[in-house]
Amino acid sequence: MKKQIKNNVYWVGKVDWELETFHGDDYSINNGSSQNAYLIREEKTVLIDTVWKPHANDFVENLEKEIELEKIDYIIVNHGEIDHSGALPELMKKIPNTPIYCTQKAVDSLTGQFHHPEWNFNVVKTGDTLDIGNGKQLVFVEMTMLHWPDSMATYMTGDNILFSNDAFGQHFAVDELFNDKADQCKLWEEAIKYYANILNPFSMLVKRKIDEITALNLPIDIIATSHGAIWRDNPLQIIEKYYEWSQAYKEDQITIVYDTMWEGTTKLAHKIAQEVALASPDTRVKVFNIAKTDKNDIMTEVFRSKAIAVGSPTVGNNVLSTVSGWLAFLKELKFKEKKAAVFGCYGWSGESPKILREKLAQSGFEVVEPEIRCKWNPRQEDLDKAKAIALALTQ
Ligand code: FEO
Repeated sequence: MKKQIKNNVYWVGKVDWELETFHGDDYSINNGSSQNAYLIREEKTVLIDTVWKPHANDFVENLEKEIELEKIDYIIVNHGEIDHSGALPELMKKIPNTPIYCTQKAVDSLTGQFHHPEWNFNVVKTGDTLDIGNGKQLVFVEMTMLHWPDSMATYMTGDNILFSNDAFGQHFAVDELFNDKADQCKLWEEAIKYYANILNPFSMLVKRKIDEITALNLPIDIIATSHGAIWRDNPLQIIEKYYEWSQAYKEDQITIVYDTMWEGTTKLAHKIAQEVALASPDTRVKVFNIAKTDKNDIMTEVFRSKAIAVGSPTVGNNVLSTVSGWLAFLKELKFKEKKAAVFGCYGWSGESPKILREKLAQSGFEVVEPEIRCKWNPRQEDLDKAKAIALALTQ
């Protein structure tokens, strides 16, 4: 069902309350999500993006109820990832000659995924425009790596709408569509999770792109994202937040993560948490067992933290596989300017602190000297070492 966004601009996407994961199973969805697509009906009729492939038939059927498909003059593909382009093959079966406006990289990604080089592609670059009548234009802005090399945003003059695609989005189902209607607590939690887990590796580009968009001095009344809430109430607030998040963001928080075999490493984790609270009473301290807590939610907490401590017992001359996998994801996210400490129990060989230290350094963390390498279960002398870790992390 279409919903009006402003004047002749309508939402024609899919609110997906049942979605549980995204990017395969790599991103957890706790509060549903949406794939936002838009229909502009000025003198020209324009479709901006589509929806994910499982919803392709419904999408095309719903669109047909709103408009004769042949009346669509242009299709804008802001991003070739399948959550936005998945319904394109179904649609193009019905209107095969309709011009598609997208970046050169999107031609590559769409052709690579769908194998239709014959589609009527029209390549655009930053600053290119498309007249849609009634005195309004679409202006294209390349958004390289936000989220793929092919990404772009489309700005509509007159109505002052920035169709930002992935940027400024959230995996969050909002039936009422708009940010002022959404549960504010969940909205911001989902927005920061999305940034931390998807966009943080590209933070330098985020800052540069925001500087570029700000310099254009475009009036922005609405930021129409491709996921979650559409920002119409003070839309600049999410741009300001992205600017803050893009610059080695940290709060006064320390997060302790670990896994354990027989609870020895658990004891160390909680002792470190106690000592951090004593050393810096204002600091927020959180403790998570990696094996029992959603990895994306922990990464959001790492994003908020100025320092982390990571613990694992030694097993098979290595760390636990849960911790190895978590560390691989941590490296991918390219956090900056954060401290880290290491700890873990062992029975005989005891390599885990050394391995944790190496992996954290490779992931860009400043690993502090104090550590706890504890033979068998912690004695008082092992627990006493937590104080030095706390001081090193809080200083
Ligand atoms: Fe929402 Fe990068 O796709």
